[in-house]
Amino acid sequence: MKIALAEPSTGSGHQSPGLWTHPEDESYRFNDIDHWIELAQLLESAKFHGIFIADVLGGYDVYKGPRNLEPAIVSGAQWPVNEPLAVVPAMAAATKNIGFGVTVTTTYEQPYHLARRLSTVDHLTKGRIGWNIVTGYLDSAARNLIGKDQPQHDDRYAVAEEYIKVAYKLWESSWRDDAVVLDRQRRVYTEPSRVREINHEGKYFNVPGPHLTQPSPQRTPVILQAGTSKAGKTFAAQHAEAIFVAGHSPSVVAKNIAEIRELAKTEYGRDPQKIKFLALLCPIIGKTEEEAQEKFKYYRSLGSIDGALALFGGWTGINLDVYGEDEELRNVPSNAIRYVHSSLKCQAISLTGAGPPSRAGPRRRPKSPDGPRRPSASTSQSADWAQRRSEPQSRSQTRWSAGCARPMSTASTW
Ligand SMILES: Cc1cc2nc3c(=O)[nH]c(=O)nc-3n(C[C@H](O)[C@H](O)[C@H](O)COP(=O)(O)O)c2cc1C
Repeated sequence: MKIALAEPSTGSGHQSPGLWTHPEDESYRFNDIDHWIELAQLLESAKFHGIFIADVLGGYDVYKGPRNLEPAIVSGAQWPVNEPLAVVPAMAAATKNIGFGVTVTTTYEQPYHLARRLSTVDHLTKGRIGWNIVTGYLDSAARNLIGKDQPQHDDRYAVAEEYIKVAYKLWESSWRDDAVVLDRQRRVYTEPSRVREINHEGKYFNVPGPHLTQPSPQRTPVILQAGTSKAGKTFAAQHAEAIFVAGHSPSVVAKNIAEIRELAKTEYGRDPQKIKFLALLCPIIGKTEEEAQEKFKYYRSLGSIDGALALFGGWTGINLDVYGEDEELRNVPSNAIRYVHSSLKCQAISLTGAGPPSRAGPRRRPKSPDGPRRPSASTSQSADWAQRRSEPQSRSQTRWSAGCARPMSTASTW
């Protein structure tokens, strides 16, 4: 069986708001380091390959908004949410092989700074860190970090493209492997001739370097990506080693995978079969089908409609509170996540960067109490259609996967 990643969040109600009300729920313990250590040990003993931690830098304030955090705050929909990288070294110290994929956006942090943070954690985990590269989707994050709404969707990907090039240069071509000599007799810690500047000058970043951190076991962490807009696919096809694909129908997922593989091969000369695809799956397990269905029903009864709609609002940029229950949404402009366009096509929801507003125009939806009518994003269906590929067993010896077309040669010599 190929189990790729488990996805906890550094908050309580990530994909399934309201489930924290389950009497046996433990997700509220995310502030407790023991929770993370126990989780990592449990997942490693169950032979999971990795733990993927999502992140956002703002709250979900679109639903019943604008700028209304209340539905997310009340329901605990990815709120509160902690910084994800901080828990990784503790989990690494308590485990041997499991990998850690951590989400960091390229929109609000300088590459020089992030490259050092990831190198540090790659050292501390003995080469078990992965970076889930995201471009963000919440204006609430942008308002807090850059004092205005977020840049346009495709511009965020343009920044990401330059960002990762800076990071590659810092990781791959700034230090030789043999730069640190620790020569006590000559009193030389690092040979200065083996460390060099990168002198990156670009549209968005000027980074002379050198990298502040000596080469870590992987140098470049495993590159993960999600996002299947046109810009997202192009980015993934060039850089990603493992790609999350969301979609509510096998045909949508299959199409996205085929397109990314094709781009990877034709545009970037990569072996498309080396790219791993991770389909989302939320298993509800029971000893029998009936027991699993009962459990699923119970979980749905705990779900928070307001929390789910708050998440939907943040992901899509669309405030469903202003639309009627039976209204079809078409061509609603959005500067948030575009993959929802393809993944929800089957439900007649269409998002574009620009376009005419909804045919019927916005109108206030009938009020409904927060209850189990609409479940959260969980599904009990299997994802047999997911691409499944084998992974190395020991991540302390080898990177999780080796499918990335590295644009920089390694810097063991120059
Ligand atoms: C499975 C999955 C997990 C994601 N996790 C995060 C996350 O933790 N943080 C984030 O900012 N974006 C996350 N995203 C959003 C994407 O990384 C991407 O930024 C977004 O989909 C916009 O790109 P797109 O319009 O190309 O789809 C996730 C997307 C998917 C499908």
